[in-house]
Amino acid sequence: KTLKLKISPESPEMDKIKQAAEYIKSGKLVAFPTETVYGLGANALDPYAVKKIYIAKGRPEDNPLIVHVSSLEMAQSLVVENIDAFEIAHRLWPGPVTLIFHKSSVVPSIVTAMMQTVGLRFPAHPIAIKLIESSGVPIAAPSANLSGKPSPTEEWHVVEDLDSRVECIIQGGKTLFGLESTIIDMTRKKPRLLRPGPVSPERLKELLPDLVVSEAARARAKYDGPALSPGMKYRHYSPDVELILVEGNPFDSFKKIKEIALQSNRKTAILCSKETEMLYGKGFEKIVLGSREDLYIVATNLFSTLRELPGKGFDLLISEAFPEKGIGLAIMNRLRKAAWKVINTD
Ligand code: TXA
Ligand code: MG
Repeated sequence: KTLKLKISPESPEMDKIKQAAEYIKSGKLVAFPTETVYGLGANALDPYAVKKIYIAKGRPEDNPLIVHVSSLEMAQSLVVENIDAFEIAHRLWPGPVTLIFHKSSVVPSIVTAMMQTVGLRFPAHPIAIKLIESSGVPIAAPSANLSGKPSPTEEWHVVEDLDSRVECIIQGGKTLFGLESTIIDMTRKKPRLLRPGPVSPERLKELLPDLVVSEAARARAKYDGPALSPGMKYRHYSPDVELILVEGNPFDSFKKIKEIALQSNRKTAILCSKETEMLYGKGFEKIVLGSREDLYIVATNLFSTLRELPGKGFDLLISEAFPEKGIGLAIMNRLRKAAWKVINTD
């Protein structure tokens, strides 16, 4: 029922791209890779097609979608801003950044959950760009997972969640960053970082010295009192089994992590780094996400690990914290939102 198209991410086969583009043009859903995560796309100008995205994902309709474009001109047709507002877009696109602008009337309100603003992204992935160009329309696309699950970074993640729920899945290999785009609200007096992503706040501040990094971007639990703060405000990107995040420097907090692992009678995996793996010693299952010196690798592995470990028989995951530098801010944002429970050791 779902057409699967295997397409080369380096040099996309145009016959297959055109086939997928026909689907988009006729109001069907097409999942496709971007350099961040896979997206579930529909013609952004067709409210009936967009409606199907919400149904396929089980997504609440008050959560707006990102609209993907393949040129600055296409972006401009969707907003009321004048060309000056695109100065920053010029520098960041194509790339893993979503910018929020005031929308024009051509954008259906279902795309933006009735809001007067729209999130735009010009992705840097060849398949995404060719698909948008061939379709000739902007493509609305949230991440291509069932609502609440970790975002898909591999083609089989998309198949697992959306097979037979969508008309077409493009299989274009592993995504580069493995975390969703950085989102910046450009409609405020001072631009505001809404979601940290692959482009770090440090880098953004070079381009946007006024950038406001809100507490929400950290997604840190407001913490006072007991050592345990269950039920954080959000839980997103969630693995199918319990995930406990232990905050603090792992060179201290590893003792707490071992204690939790020993106390639970469950099959437990400890998510750690190359540098900290040996702290735990024998008798613990350690999953190394990457090196603390190269957080890009940790980011690439995070969602696939959260998605795949439950199927390997683990029923408790305990993660170390990572430094909130560079892409580390995005890693900690996703871990805090995914965690069932956050334990503070600072
Ligand atoms: O990397 C990505 O951003 C991926 C790829 C497919 O582009 N997309 C993605 O979409 O992560 P999604 O729907 O999973 O997350 C989009 C986020 C939502 O949290 C939504 O609330 C926010 O973007 N958003 C979209 N439009 C917005 C708007 N007008 N104002 C504020 N937030 C907005
Ligand atoms: Mg999502």
